[in-house]
Amino acid sequence: MADLRNNFVGIKSPNPFWLASAPPTDKAYNVERAFKAGWGGVVWKTLGEEGPPVVNVNGPRYGAIWGADRRLLGLNNIELITDRDLYTNLREMKQVKMNWPDRALIASIMVPCEEQAWKAILPLVEETGADGIELNFGCPHGMSERGMGSAVGQVPEYIEMVVRWCKQYTRMPVITKLTPNITDIRKPARAAKAGGTDAVSLINTINSIVSVDLDNFAPNPTVGGKGSHGGYCGPAVKPIALNMVAEIARDAETYGLPISGIGGVTTWRDAAEFLALGAGNVQVCTAAMTYGFKIVEEMITGLSDWMDEKGHRTLDDVIARAVPNVSDWQYLNLNYIAKAKIDQDACIKCGRCYIACEDTSHQAITNMVDGARHFEVMDEECVGCNLCVSVCPVENCITMEELPAGSLDKRTGKIVDPNYANWTTHPNNPMARQAAE
Ligand SMILES: Cc1cc2nc3c(=O)[nH]c(=O)nc-3n(C[C@H](O)[C@H](O)[C@H](O)COP(=O)(O)O)c2cc1C
Repeated sequence: MADLRNNFVGIKSPNPFWLASAPPTDKAYNVERAFKAGWGGVVWKTLGEEGPPVVNVNGPRYGAIWGADRRLLGLNNIELITDRDLYTNLREMKQVKMNWPDRALIASIMVPCEEQAWKAILPLVEETGADGIELNFGCPHGMSERGMGSAVGQVPEYIEMVVRWCKQYTRMPVITKLTPNITDIRKPARAAKAGGTDAVSLINTINSIVSVDLDNFAPNPTVGGKGSHGGYCGPAVKPIALNMVAEIARDAETYGLPISGIGGVTTWRDAAEFLALGAGNVQVCTAAMTYGFKIVEEMITGLSDWMDEKGHRTLDDVIARAVPNVSDWQYLNLNYIAKAKIDQDACIKCGRCYIACEDTSHQAITNMVDGARHFEVMDEECVGCNLCVSVCPVENCITMEELPAGSLDKRTGKIVDPNYANWTTHPNNPMARQAAE
């Protein structure tokens, strides 16, 4: 049986599935139920400084994007950090940690960007027995207008400064949660590392307006006739999160920095992908909010079964395995050639591949052959772009087949060269041509 035990910056949990800081982790009642369901750890809903708690809107705080089957693809929220009293949260955290010593309990914190504010809250959190802290530099709405959340996360110098304070005033491991609302994710990650962070976690939510109410001409969710931008999360953000995780994992300056991967994790496969791209564990929010805490059971058994099947014994056999294969475009092999192939038995003759290829791409798919509807790829036109695979409604009906070395590429009339060729030396590259002349 695969061993799913996780050790993330010295914080141990029975599996790599943590709940991200959000409503599922807002109170002891939820977290107790989550641990019973099997979650390996939680990042408690973000705590603010002592004083009157923040006040949330009393109308809708979520907007959503659905697929054609009404499955939730993206969730948008305008919720703030916890609106419960600091001491109530701290008391509950302490009790939960005592009840569940084998699970990870992390405190997410967001206080003003002032040394005194961080110095004041850290001992209070430490006293709960929490295993670590996560610095919320990511919240894109409500708190950022008050100079916190992503307002800090977008300025690398502030990140470095706050991380430094935290490392100075607590012994707990520090996880710095990054905002994706930035051009180059490597910069805040490097700043966090320079400040001495033990790890980064990402992504927090993405600035967004999910839709507009066309009767009232206001963004959704609409609160009394007006709407505000909110934070986007769920399956729709996974590709953005995966790329950002990989960017940090393969950056020379942050190479080896532990990463907690967040963003759209819904199945064990999503989790495995984050791990393969360099995450040491994953955090989940929207999937739990959509399907309930028991979804972790499928994640645990799915990951475990897959690892057994592939012979991966521990998480270390998977973590970062895909990182060396993430390349800059110019190092891709231009001698690699693949062509689309349509399985005639699986084809339902809907014609979507033909229309996509004919109208917008390379005119490489037949429509009518001998007076009958027939969809077949013409190798002499196919550039192997994969659009037909992407639009085909039948899974595995169209596949990409690699041309073996030595065979003829009917499109170019050339024999497929087995040697690796990349853009740096390719004759179509004007810089390579210039160098050769
Ligand atoms: C309603 C809601 C509230 C959230 N509140 C917080 C928060 O207080 N602190 C925080 O760091 N992230 C917060 N997040 C962001 C999540 O922790 C997570 O980073 C994000 O939702 C992406 O993960 P997901 O795609 O699994 O939902 C919140 C997300 C949602 C949906």
